[in-house]
Formats: sequence, C-alpha cells, structure tokens
Amino acid sequence: MPYLRNAWYAAGWSHDLADQPLGRTIHDQPIVFYRGERGQALALHDACPHRFAPLSRGTVKGDRIACGYHGLEFDGVGGRCVRNPHGKGVIPAALSVRSYPVTERYGMLWVWMGEADRADPALLPELPILEDPDFSWVHGGLHVSAHYELVIDNLLDLTHVEFLHPFLASPGNSQRTRFRAEQNGNQVSSYYDIEGEPISGLFRLLWAGPEERGDMRAYMHWTAPSSLFLETSIQLPAGPGPRVPTVHLLTPETEDTTHYFWAAGRNCRHGDEQISGMLHFGIQSAFENEDEPMIRAARSRMTSNDLFAHRPALLPIDEGAVRARRILKNLINAEQQGNGEAEAVRAA
Ligand code: FES
Ligand SMILES: [Fe+2]
Repeated sequence: MPYLRNAWYAAGWSHDLADQPLGRTIHDQPIVFYRGERGQALALHDACPHRFAPLSRGTVKGDRIACGYHGLEFDGVGGRCVRNPHGKGVIPAALSVRSYPVTERYGMLWVWMGEADRADPALLPELPILEDPDFSWVHGGLHVSAHYELVIDNLLDLTHVEFLHPFLASPGNSQRTRFRAEQNGNQVSSYYDIEGEPISGLFRLLWAGPEERGDMRAYMHWTAPSSLFLETSIQLPAGPGPRVPTVHLLTPETEDTTHYFWAAGRNCRHGDEQISGMLHFGIQSAFENEDEPMIRAARSRMTSNDLFAHRPALLPIDEGAVRARRILKNLINAEQQGNGEAEAVRAA
C-alpha cells in the first residue's frame, strides 16, 4: 500500500533538532535533518552517493553537511555536492543527494514527501492551539511497531479508553456514551459525550474541587493523512472544568512502523512543573505501555496491513475509522493516477 506523498508529515519536535544531525526514516526513505547557519532546518537524503555512508554520521559546516566517511560535502538547500576534498577536487556535475522541503511551525518540524514544487506551507495542518497562550503544553513521542492506519483506528475509536486506560475513564462509561461520527471533506470527527461521568484520575490531577461528577466531552478530529486533534473537557455543575486538548501526529516510518508525536495541553495549573511531569509520564506510559503493545499484538493476528481483507466485524463505533480509511485510500488512488489538485491535502 503506497503512502500519500504530497503532504506535510511531522518529522520531530523542533526542540529535538539542535546542533547534531538527526537521522530519521520516513516513507522508507532515510532522511538527515540538521540546522544550517541561521538555525534553519534542512533535510537531505541520508546516504552519501559515494559509498552510501549515512550523512547523519557526518559533520555540519554552516549550510553544508560533510560525509563522515571520505569527506564529500553537500549543500543542505539543493543537495548538490559542493566540495570534494580528494585529488584536484573535481566535482562531477550530477553529484547530489535529494533534498526535501522542510518547514517549522507550532514547534514541529514538517517534511514534504512529494514533489518539491508543490510544498506549500498553506497546506500544513492547522493546529493554532499549540501556540495559544491559554494553554501549557507537554510534548512526547514514541515509536509504534505497526502501520500508521492501525494507530488512526485506535484514535478514532475512543471506546477503547474504558478498557485499555482505566486511569482515564470509569467502568461502564461506554454504555452511557452518546457517540456520533461526522465527515467534512478530508476530515473525520468522532464525538463522545458522557453525562454525569465520575471525574477521572486525569482530571483529578488538574482540578481538586468537591464535585464527584461532570459531563465529559471527547471530540477527536482527524485530517488526512495522519494528523489528529482531540478536545477533552469536563463541564461541572459549577461551570466549565479543565480542558485538556491533545495533538497526535503520525508519520509512517515504514509499512510496519510509525513515528508518533504527541502534545497535551491544559488551561489550568500553568507553570506547575510537577503537574507537567505527571501528565507527561501518564500520557507517555498510556501510549507506550497500553496502546502500542495492543495495536502491535492485534497486528500479529493479521497476515497483512490490509484490514478489510481480514473481514473485521465492524461495529457502529468504527464509523470514524472506516470513513478515514476510505478517504485516505481515495486520496492515495487519486495521487497515483495523477488527479491534479485533489490529492494536495492538509497533512501531518
Ligand atoms: S561515503 Fe561519503 S564520501 Fe565516501
Ligand atoms: Fe489509547
């Protein structure tokens, strides 16, 4: 199954790219990210054309990166070889590596995996909440040993929370949940409303009022190909309780592995480092120790990544995930057939 190429994909948090080159595989392509002279992010194919040494093992020199094996130097902007330290220093005209359009927004590095001349920053996913001063954020990431659509399935069906993450939901809340899914262009949303829900451990961390119950909302929004935003909030009898938005950016590393970058915000307890640490730990461990092993284990019972070929027993709770899979498939088909603008989508 091919990837949707003409889209921006999250490559890492900006703060993870400092003065050392960062090697990261995306869509089966090894890519080296590094910062040029002015601190700008640059991205090149991570294999030297001479003997294929990863350039991520090399040295950054201004906007150039020098191969750590025999010293050829490449310009980070176009990927051309600009220095050959051997003999007379002649550089064959065609000696270059692929360069990738890369940009930074919302504290995230984004890489464009398709045709470079179509890399329009206007097509970045819209996540202005990551810069909203009403919220404090913690950031994390993990490596998932499964196809990225299985992670999208997980996030567009939050009924798993009651069973897989008891810290985040109370027993039996799936029965009380009002659920609906909606499609809007290349976006799909799954809406969950639960009235009179006991306040979960997560919200107790943020809010210590006397109320025992509140009306929970969890609204998950997916934008093709793999950017998700979850609004979670609780309405208390006394007024609005805390809001905990989370952003989930999934980037296919290979057919069977995914880079998962997440951020969790809160509109209360700003500057409380202990709370930040607990939130980070709680969320990271839920994804790493509960979601990831379950997704991987479920994949081990499938013979390929083609979910529908396995004839899954679909339930009404699957509506969001099934819609997202259809949209993505159509976009990839349209792109493969060269159907003009249809495939240039807001992407993550
Ligand atoms: S492998 Fe890079 S210069 Fe030889
Ligand atoms: Fe989960």
